[in-house]
Amino acid sequence: MKVLGIETSCDETAAGVVEDGKRLLSNVVSSSMDLHAKYGGVVPEIAARSHIEAITPVITQALDVAKCTWEDIDAIAVTYGAGLGGSLLIGVLAARTLAIAKQKPLYAINHVEGHLYVNFLTEGSLENYKYVSTAPQFPILGIIVSGGHSQLVLFRNHFDYTLLGQTQDDAIGEAFDKVAKIIGLPYPGGVNVSRLAEQGDPKAFKLPKAKMSGKYDFSFSGLKTAVLRLAQAQVGADFTLPSTQLPERLDEAQKADIAASFQRVAVETIVDKAIQACEEFQPKSVIIGGGVAANTELRRQLGERIPLPVDFPDMKLCGDNGAMIATLGCYKVMHDQPQADPRSLEIAPNLSM
Ligand code: KG4
Ligand code: ZN
Repeated sequence: MKVLGIETSCDETAAGVVEDGKRLLSNVVSSSMDLHAKYGGVVPEIAARSHIEAITPVITQALDVAKCTWEDIDAIAVTYGAGLGGSLLIGVLAARTLAIAKQKPLYAINHVEGHLYVNFLTEGSLENYKYVSTAPQFPILGIIVSGGHSQLVLFRNHFDYTLLGQTQDDAIGEAFDKVAKIIGLPYPGGVNVSRLAEQGDPKAFKLPKAKMSGKYDFSFSGLKTAVLRLAQAQVGADFTLPSTQLPERLDEAQKADIAASFQRVAVETIVDKAIQACEEFQPKSVIIGGGVAANTELRRQLGERIPLPVDFPDMKLCGDNGAMIATLGCYKVMHDQPQADPRSLEIAPNLSM
């Protein structure tokens, strides 16, 4: 059983084909990131226009790489939320049209849920991909760390989960991106902060971890502000110095130490709560998903501190992609989940788990 997954929630136009919820056959991603870089963040109108140009070639290539014709595809799965409205619309309209024209069942996928499903890909025909050795076992603790979400979720089974907690303000990826701006690193910030952090001392500065009323909730906006104040203090200025003047006044060693100290605390914030959730709920597996799941410090801390082995997905499957949507689509088919109506499926930009 093969499912085509389509993903256009932000700046990646992506499509992938997955077989039986475990075998990766293709994963094609076209990013408009370069077009947004000079603006320092994703510009929704540019992202939407780029999706229009890329969607057909990306889907065609995903089928080609998977060596599939439309005959071989059993269902279409598409991200309908959360994300940017204009971006979501392109993927959803493409999927609805194809579902009608090719007479395929259509499944509406929650992007955030999708991120975790790359952990079920245990094999595939693509070279240069690392597959997890075995599928995760329920109950599963899911850690979602992306540009838009930071959540802990307990899965008792497929489609049977409880949201344990989430960020009350910025997502962890957003905090990485904001710290990148403070120290003058180009967009996309997260990966650049992470690279520079390798040259810094993670214990150079003491930064605060937010105390939350919800046991499994997070907050990253205080940490981000603490980084701003720290950077201002490092150049001998007070809080009135505009952040735009910081990059030229901080030296490389200060920037690296700020990046490393921030990264350590941001990651610890997530891992501390994940350990607490492991103690309370005794999951059989712990999985991570979302752009920040590519972060090596997060992987290191999880590997060292979580009381059970954690098998990490391929770096190329952490950012937004179509394979994750196709994988969750497969489980929707296999578990008789409701289909979407191709004549009326609407986008849900603020969809939550
Ligand atoms: O999942 P994703 O591609 O898009 C959303 O659904 O939001 O996540 C993007 C986020 C961005 O904030 C980006 O800076 C961050 O993931 N990111 C990283 C790394 N790679 C991407 N953050 C920290 N370390 C990384 N290596
Ligand atoms: Zn995402």
